[in-house]
Amino acid sequence: MSRKLVAYFSASGVTAKVAENLSEAIGADLYEIAPAVPYTKGDLDWTDKNSRSTIEMTDPASRPAIDGKRDNMDDYDTVFVGFPIWWYVAPTIINTFLESYDLTGKTVIPFATSGGSGMGKTNEKLQPSCPNAKLLEGKVFKKSASKSELAAWVDGLKL
Ligand SMILES: Cc1cc2nc3c(=O)[nH]c(=O)nc-3n(C[C@H](O)[C@H](O)[C@H](O)COP(=O)(O)O)c2cc1C
Repeated sequence: MSRKLVAYFSASGVTAKVAENLSEAIGADLYEIAPAVPYTKGDLDWTDKNSRSTIEMTDPASRPAIDGKRDNMDDYDTVFVGFPIWWYVAPTIINTFLESYDLTGKTVIPFATSGGSGMGKTNEKLQPSCPNAKLLEGKVFKKSASKSELAAWVDGLKL
């Protein structure tokens, strides 16, 4: 059995719920990617072109800092990475996360929640941040995704 980690960033709790269910469904460890500076409600206002999230998402070089680091990443060969879709892709803190580790040879599998968008060009933005990992096509889930739905998805990946 391979060792799996479910790492996630969640600004308002939706992805956190899916991540918890996924980790329980597949017996994986759980790790929260916590921003060094938490996002306020104002930071998340996508209608404000001067909000923190808008500024970060329009700057390809933005790499919001993470509070702490997983110190046993070498123990895992499969890393699920969960996040809310922001502006049709992953928040740039996910790039920070991927760039914080040597993921050579590991399988990285994105999953997300959204207001309706799919994964879009998420992987195009993530692959350069984990050049030596095998990045699989990810999937968007609803907050209500059950453990059996999540387990069936992972089964279908034939890891
Ligand atoms: C800054 C920002 C940008 C967003 N952009 C999108 C988007 O492009 N498409 C979409 O369907 N939902 C978008 N959303 C909605 C979130 O993806 C959705 O509410 C998600 O489930 C929140 O997850 P969380 O509670 O884990 O942060 C956006 C939300 C924020 C805060």
